[in-house]
Amino acid sequence: MRADFMNKSEPFYGPDFSQLAREDPEVAQVLLDELTRLRGGLQLIASENLASPAVLAALGSTLTDKYAEGYPGRRYYGGCEVVDRAEQLAIDRAKALFKADHANVQPHSGASANLAAYAALLQPGDTVLAMALRHGGHLTHGSPVNFSGRWFDVASYGVRRDTELIDYDEVRELALRHRPKMIICGATSYPRLIDYSVFRGIADEIGAWLLVDAAHTIGLMAGEAIPSAVPYADVVTFTTHKTLRGPRGGGLLCTAELAQRVDRAVFPFTQGGPLMHVIAAKAVAFGEAMRPIFRRYAASVVENAAALCEALAAEGMRPVSGGTDTHLALIDLRGVGVTGAEAERRCAAAGITLNRNVIPYDPEPPTVTSGVRIGTACVTTQGMGVGEMKEIASLMTYAVHNPGAITSVLQRVKGLTVTHPAYPRDE
Ligand SMILES: Cc1ncc(COP(=O)(O)O)c(C=O)c1O
Repeated sequence: MRADFMNKSEPFYGPDFSQLAREDPEVAQVLLDELTRLRGGLQLIASENLASPAVLAALGSTLTDKYAEGYPGRRYYGGCEVVDRAEQLAIDRAKALFKADHANVQPHSGASANLAAYAALLQPGDTVLAMALRHGGHLTHGSPVNFSGRWFDVASYGVRRDTELIDYDEVRELALRHRPKMIICGATSYPRLIDYSVFRGIADEIGAWLLVDAAHTIGLMAGEAIPSAVPYADVVTFTTHKTLRGPRGGGLLCTAELAQRVDRAVFPFTQGGPLMHVIAAKAVAFGEAMRPIFRRYAASVVENAAALCEALAAEGMRPVSGGTDTHLALIDLRGVGVTGAEAERRCAAAGITLNRNVIPYDPEPPTVTSGVRIGTACVTTQGMGVGEMKEIASLMTYAVHNPGAITSVLQRVKGLTVTHPAYPRDE
């Protein structure tokens, strides 16, 4: 099968690292140093993952050269018949994977996908109800420094102080009071499942659109480790580089009724030429996510996050809301007397990469914070399991408490990265 395929086609051209090394050693060195960094530490940033060699090959292809404004079969440029196949594969696979009526795979990022969703459904000045940034929402959910906050009138809901869970009563009350044209759910640092059926009910009650921003959780939905938002939302936006483990990029899923509006909102309203090499890589990632092994991966990501939370809680590091149902957790560090910023620095020095993050009702500003956000997508890709999560919790705790004595932590981090390497050399 493989030989057949190779015979029929031209040999693949690029990527040729030795050529880059010869022609631009400075950039080549950056690529190597980043690989060394990835391999040498633990990546606990909840929004990152390690894309497969197949995804990287598609990204490093000549499809980057092609202008293809428009959609498959309806382009504004000639010579698109080959790249059309890549986009059609990506669309068909996304539709099958998520059981969606329609998919748009062109957004350059999650923020671009959200911009397109706003453009498809709203006019500037319309009212939107979304999760507050300080409770886990994203910049595109109404921050004043973002298009969403500047061009739309945004009301925000949050989590309850006692449970740290979304306050659905507050969501309904705000919806009835502000009568938004669109309600957004989905977050950047909310560790729990979101009840889409409740959001759907509230949206229906006031005749609002429901946008689910599944940037973070889309891979878990693909692997059926958590419920899908597709049956409930008018539009689902997502990224392809987080739990889905594809190339950096975005996408939208929607009902058949909204297909044309969504497509026009992406091109020509908010974007120009699509990134065809990235779209090909998205097709690869969707294909990977359709396999049974990805289902096991998604389940393991969630299991690992729960295990990491439990082990951290046992060390006095409190998971916000008491734990997680997803790939990520928010850890409240007030009990250990260290700020999020300081914990981020101390863990970085020990080879553990994570980010500071505000916790709900955080008394500290976003530059300092009382918490850190962690995620298990990368370490699970590296094949780590529940046993390794216990070790990571112990390492994090030691690093946070003992900034002056990290030699032993560095050794233990190395132990994990040697037995479970990122980008193993024989791949
Ligand atoms: C909930 C949510 N939406 C949108 C985005 C934006 O994605 P991108 O960084 O690809 O623009 C993010 C990124 O972290 C996110 O967490």
